[in-house]
Amino acid sequence: MSSPFRYGKIVTGDHFINRSADIQRIQNNNSAGINTILISPRRWGKSSLIKQVEQLNTDNELRFAFLDFFKIRTEEEFLTSYMREVIRCSISRKEELLQAGREFFRKLSPSFSFGADPVNDFTLKLTWSEAKKAKDEIINLPEVIANKRGIKIVVCIDEFQNISKLPESVLFEQELRSYWQYHNNTTYCLYGSRKHMMLELFKEESRAFYRFGDLFLLQKIPEKHWIDYIRDSFSKTGKKISKDIVHKMISHTSNHPDYLQQLSHNTWNNTDSEVTEEILSESMDLVISSNTLYYQDICEGLSTTQINLLKAILHGERRLTSAATMLEFNLGTPRNVSKNKKMLGTKDILEIHGDMIHFNDPIFEYWLKHFYL
Ligand SMILES: Nc1ncnc2c1ncn2[C@@H]1O[C@H](COP(=O)(O)OP(=O)(O)OP(=O)(O)O)[C@@H](O)[C@H]1O
Ligand SMILES: [Mg+2]
Repeated sequence: MSSPFRYGKIVTGDHFINRSADIQRIQNNNSAGINTILISPRRWGKSSLIKQVEQLNTDNELRFAFLDFFKIRTEEEFLTSYMREVIRCSISRKEELLQAGREFFRKLSPSFSFGADPVNDFTLKLTWSEAKKAKDEIINLPEVIANKRGIKIVVCIDEFQNISKLPESVLFEQELRSYWQYHNNTTYCLYGSRKHMMLELFKEESRAFYRFGDLFLLQKIPEKHWIDYIRDSFSKTGKKISKDIVHKMISHTSNHPDYLQQLSHNTWNNTDSEVTEEILSESMDLVISSNTLYYQDICEGLSTTQINLLKAILHGERRLTSAATMLEFNLGTPRNVSKNKKMLGTKDILEIHGDMIHFNDPIFEYWLKHFYL
């Protein structure tokens, strides 16, 4: 029997729960031609949410193009994937694809090569020298296609903050916005997990994407939806779990979607008929051990004073620049403290609002406290 839980990848359909208000908000934006900007810490469900919005669009009224900035290192790579994905979402037959070259471009004449399934599996051949001369034509492509075909296109770009890592990104951002802002039948859904970088892009007046659309911070899924989902998934597969244990699972993972699915999966896997406290504890240990390498990597990227600062925070210290705290935890000078605090916030390890400081990753926090320090 296969596990009713999924983690580590995009979930939709039966594995996707709640988020109805978020779905509604994005759907409304898409129909009203308003761009969406979505931010959340890692693994809270951004990519799944946008994919779910696409899957709910069963009448094909909107066409969704998906790009991921995670894999893009240059402007050329961006423009080629943008073109390919925009064309892919708007065609349904190979003939349309061949026609697309002539129909949608004036300056460019891209050629295609096909795989086994020509509609989904095609590559676009375009030299960078050609593309550079026709950037306007490429950037305007979704709008041109939408207008010519009488459709609406939603261009979804994951990990959008990585645009700032492109060489000469500021100029490129200006260029994109200067065209995108005139699009009426194309909306842009831009999402990312690096809160600081995303906020800088969209909230700084000096940046091209300032106030580009409806910006929202994704929240966690309320507990009651998890309780139903976890209990139903166990009972549907002939296994028992008490309400009390489900509550403990939610609290052990601080209601973090990915970890909760991971813990649910381990618990389900370790259970023959009914979940016990021992099974829960073993399953939680497994969550921690399977993420340990990743946590060690984070720590290796930090300096000793930064680790010490995390230690002080874990001890509940909030007056981090007091002489006693700096001495007790070996934090360096007040300047070191504020620099390190800022850096841990910028790296999205900590979420800081004045004196309110918490860890973004609840299991990393637990691991630091119990295994590392
Ligand atoms: N609505 C949901 N219902 C159930 N589980 C969810 C939901 N959203 C997210 N998850 C769980 O969280 C995991 C991560 O989801 P997803 O990849 O969509 O997050 P993300 O925010 O895009 O992550 P990243 O920051 O790494 O790109 C999923 O594999 C799933 O286990
Ligand atoms: Mg994602």
